[in-house]
Amino acid sequence: MVMKADVASAAIQELKTGDSWVIMMSPQGKPLEQKRVFELAQVNHLVILCGHYEGIDARILEDIDEEISIGDYILTGGELPAMVLVDAIVRLLPGVLDEESPLEESFTKRLLEYPHYTRPVEYRGKKVPDVLLSGHHENIRLWRKKQSLLNTLLKRPDLLLNREYDQEERALLEEILFKGDLT
Ligand SMILES: C[S@@+](CC[C@H](N)C(=O)[O-])C[C@H]1O[C@@H](n2cnc3c(N)ncnc32)[C@H](O)[C@@H]1O
Repeated sequence: MVMKADVASAAIQELKTGDSWVIMMSPQGKPLEQKRVFELAQVNHLVILCGHYEGIDARILEDIDEEISIGDYILTGGELPAMVLVDAIVRLLPGVLDEESPLEESFTKRLLEYPHYTRPVEYRGKKVPDVLLSGHHENIRLWRKKQSLLNTLLKRPDLLLNREYDQEERALLEEILFKGDLT
């Protein structure tokens, strides 16, 4: 079964305003990345079209500004992908989070975030790193940056390609790669 283009188009036209951006959730779209989520959070009005069955009659593409995929796998319908997109965008809207939080999160600078700890200070014989208990903000910032680079290197080295590095990041990477200093 295929959804009809004329019906979908009429629904889009009904919802569209002068500053709408029309997205179709589709496994054939560009895979969603955090950089795009930041951009879409700036758009005034989004219309999100969800397919079902085999999808929507290909002639609908004329009404669509962008096709977005949430990953290389097939879901039954576009509703869950649309909810994923909406959740990712809404948490970036002003007032939802502390303004600094999204800037440190995984993927924002093509890096994974550093590890987090909470109480107790010691659990299963493992202690929260001393630097985090030191209250020394600059040392904590540097430790987090280094752990972020290390985490990315170990878990998602693909993110480190085609990325620009500032001087501090280069120095930290040097410590990791050439001096074997992971602390
Ligand atoms: C069963 S899928 C259709 C798959 C299509 N026949 C194909 O092979 O490309 C039905 C609908 O679910 C949504 N969908 C499924 N997987 C998706 C994904 N990975 N990302 C975004 N939307 C997806 C789309 O809206 C799609 O039109």
